[in-house]
Amino acid sequence: MNRVTAPRLCVIPGDGIGQEVIPAAVAVLTAVIPHLQIVTAEAGWGTFEKCGVSVPDETLAAIRDCGAGLFGAVSSPSRKVAGYRSAILTMRQELDLYANIRPVQNWPRVSPRPDVDMIIVRENTEGLYVGRERWEDEGETAVAERHITRRASRRIAQKALELMQRQGRGKLTIVHKANVLPLTDGLFRDTVQEVFNGARMSADRRGFLVEELLVDVAALKMVAAPETFDVIITTNLFGDILSDAAAHWGGGLGLAASLNWGDGVALAEPVHGSAPDIAGKGIANPIAAILSGALLARYVWGLEEVAGQVETAVTHTLAHESYPTFITTKAITQAILTNV
Ligand code: IPM
Ligand code: MN
Repeated sequence: MNRVTAPRLCVIPGDGIGQEVIPAAVAVLTAVIPHLQIVTAEAGWGTFEKCGVSVPDETLAAIRDCGAGLFGAVSSPSRKVAGYRSAILTMRQELDLYANIRPVQNWPRVSPRPDVDMIIVRENTEGLYVGRERWEDEGETAVAERHITRRASRRIAQKALELMQRQGRGKLTIVHKANVLPLTDGLFRDTVQEVFNGARMSADRRGFLVEELLVDVAALKMVAAPETFDVIITTNLFGDILSDAAAHWGGGLGLAASLNWGDGVALAEPVHGSAPDIAGKGIANPIAAILSGALLARYVWGLEEVAGQVETAVTHTLAHESYPTFITTKAITQAILTNV
């Protein structure tokens, strides 16, 4: 982004606790980036009930126009509702947000162990998420298609490479299931390898260590030895599952941030859902949303020092001895605002 012009942000609170945690994140972002320009848009189940679509065209246009969005959460019905498609899946697809960046790190007092520091780079547009399911065999068989393309595998690998160069990270783990799915996951693995082999031979000759793991082995390692991971690259559903497991080491979903990232447009989003059971009570943890805002600062606006400032404020807040007793959205937000 051009550092001279003010960064612009499209804010989409969405459903449930999204309405509570997103204003908290916006308060922190505007405190650290006073010239941040904000527009608001809507998406989610509430929007669907009102307008018949979960993501209105104006919302997509506003995110594109700003180049950055911050999304809260979406409620989804567990039954199939005609015409409804999850707002977050729609935005990922329509805006071609092909990389989902999910960092997991140690936070004081809430992380179960001190030595975890990884980034999961999840392919965000294909795999089983192409949403092609159908009935066959007169309703006796349900079929889901899993698409892997060379193009999507290449661009996610390039994103991972760029991120590793930027963040000074040296080890990549490709997670796949090519022993059972040699075509689809073989294509994914080989394409990622190709991109990194090319980088190794390029002029800057960075020393990347590239290893591969079958997803079941990766799941065991995620439980038994999470500190051994640096950057993980994987397909859509494996990344979905592994990133929730990994979030445990970062202090749980209340702290898990993510960035859906495409070319020229990105949408930050806490990994947690709309939490209808606690919505409206003022007790949702805003930290995941606040840290998602920090990811925009770091990766999209190139404001590394601002991202660090927010993360340090979160660290101080969590380290404060009163943290476990003041879990209200307002109190945590206030504490972080005091610390930035
Ligand atoms: C996530 C969520 C989404 C996903 C759901 C809400 C569709 O679990 O962002 O990880 O499966 O990608
Ligand atoms: Mn998920």
